[in-house]
Amino acid sequence: MEVIISVATSLDGYIDDSTTQRLKLSSPEDWDDVLKLRCECDAILVGAGTLRIDNPSLVVKSDEERLKRVKNGLDSDIIKVSLTASGCVSREMRFFTEGNGTKILFVTDGVDTSSVDDLCEVVSLKSITAENIVNELSNRGFKRLLVEGGSNILTMFFNENMVDKLRLAIAPFFVGDSKAPRFVQDAIFFANKDNRMKLINVRQLGDMAVMEYGR
Ligand SMILES: NC(=O)c1ccc[n+]([C@@H]2O[C@H](COP(=O)([O-])OP(=O)(O)OC[C@H]3O[C@@H](n4cnc5c(N)ncnc54)[C@H](OP(=O)(O)O)[C@@H]3O)[C@@H](O)[C@H]2O)c1
Repeated sequence: MEVIISVATSLDGYIDDSTTQRLKLSSPEDWDDVLKLRCECDAILVGAGTLRIDNPSLVVKSDEERLKRVKNGLDSDIIKVSLTASGCVSREMRFFTEGNGTKILFVTDGVDTSSVDDLCEVVSLKSITAENIVNELSNRGFKRLLVEGGSNILTMFFNENMVDKLRLAIAPFFVGDSKAPRFVQDAIFFANKDNRMKLINVRQLGDMAVMEYGR
């Protein structure tokens, strides 16, 4: 299964600010392109932190897009995936309430999911790694997983070398607040000074610079 990371950052590498309001980084043109990419993927993954902070719906927006997905051999709705070790998720989250596609929640063994287990498929594992998420989803026949964040999840996928492509969109402003979440946290990365990623494409979408990298 191909793993694609999609992330938008500020010029200084932040993916949000530290306020309770969601920081808008994408231009309308970039956002349209992200929605298009979502439509080409079997599943989309964000961590429970992002569910709690942004409460994203992560759904396919139109019947036209659903039809296109079916023509391309995908489920009409994108499959939503999240993970938690604390079980701190609530049934009111848009992750659970919006969209007709399957919702999969990876949890570590012993976590109480009784408040949401009628709304999603719970996959309980002794310990959750990017590798065992990818294995589990590959076994279901998924060909493409889009991972959108946040910092914790992006760090885990890069640290485990479980990334095939990176779509990095940079907004033309600074956040300048070290309390805000960065693209990644401290870790050892397969892409480092001795092993550079391959720059595949550079585009301008509105005022965003969008780079695509491969391994
Ligand atoms: N700009 C962008 O493109 C973009 C995209 C998405 C998100 N974001 C931003 O990212 C920020 C959130 O990032 P974040 O790092 O706080 O949260 P996150 O990466 O979305 O989620 C982290 C959470 O996922 C769960 N988790 C992570 N690894 C796990 C493991 N191995 N086993 C079990 N559970 C695991 C834990 O949930 P529990 O705490 O429940 O155990 C952990 O707290 C938000 O500010 C959001 O706006 C930005």
